[in-house]
Amino acid sequence: MFTTITKLTALALAASRYAQAVPLPEDVLGVPYAGISTASHEHPTTALLIVDVQYDFINGTLGSDRAYNILPTIYQLLDEHSWGMIATSQDWHPQTHVSFASNHPGHASGDSVQIPMLASRYNETQLQSLYADHCVPGTIGANIEAGVQTRLDTLLGKTPITQIHKAQNQHVDSYSAFADNQYYEFTTLAPEMRARNIDKVVVTGLITNACVYGSSVDATKFGFGVTVISDGVETTSAEDQATALEELEEWWGVNVETLAKYEASE
Ligand SMILES: *[C@@H]1O[C@H](CO)[C@@H](O)[C@H](O)[C@H]1NC(C)=O
Ligand SMILES: *[C@@H]1O[C@H](CO)[C@@H](O)[C@H](O)[C@H]1NC(C)=O
Repeated sequence: MFTTITKLTALALAASRYAQAVPLPEDVLGVPYAGISTASHEHPTTALLIVDVQYDFINGTLGSDRAYNILPTIYQLLDEHSWGMIATSQDWHPQTHVSFASNHPGHASGDSVQIPMLASRYNETQLQSLYADHCVPGTIGANIEAGVQTRLDTLLGKTPITQIHKAQNQHVDSYSAFADNQYYEFTTLAPEMRARNIDKVVVTGLITNACVYGSSVDATKFGFGVTVISDGVETTSAEDQATALEELEEWWGVNVETLAKYEASE
């Protein structure tokens, strides 16, 4: 499965190289939460998963104009819904990370290279897509977008919130919030969801054909019912968005629906 993700990611990356970093539209982004809960939809056994809504994927080194589209949807899911648990994931890479083209002399962002499988006794390798440096702790690009972050700050203490800082191991990438791309190490997310009696997860965030894809697939493998909110996830082109959502639905049994449809069905 990660072959597919890697292939899709390489395509997305090729497209994103042409995306220009642009300033965030003031009227849409960073709108703080009023602090008054208007939650009218309650989901006590569902987790809201917000994947990698970090500046580097919005207006930073891997940014795209399309990323802005999802923010109002995510704000609404935080303002007007209450969840059994909220989880955020962030890429959290050391400067030496294997996914950075800058660590592979002679290679550029958009290339792929073979890297060693960490637990392999037979020196097997895995295809790794290469990217511009991104999501290094301490840089603005690693931060969660302010409108989302202020809402999380407000909800802290009212709703259980788990923050996953993934892909810290320099030798292996991690698209999924549950595990790295080699299943060498797992995060605490699945056991925390089980401990809180969560049986379903609603997935939003960036980018659809890489970290949203990997997180959704792993959630199905762990036995959670998965809904991806189609207007709450984005990637660098309409074509990649459609392909990834179709695969999630047809190959992995993921429920894909708009926020409006999700709200109407609850
Ligand atoms: C992206 O937007 C944030 C928030 O407005 C800003 O602080 C940051 O400098 C922007 N990044 C780039 C690369 O323009
Ligand atoms: C794996 O690579 C190491 C170091 O190059 C070598 O010593 C070993 O024989 C290789 N193992 C296999 C199964 O190919």
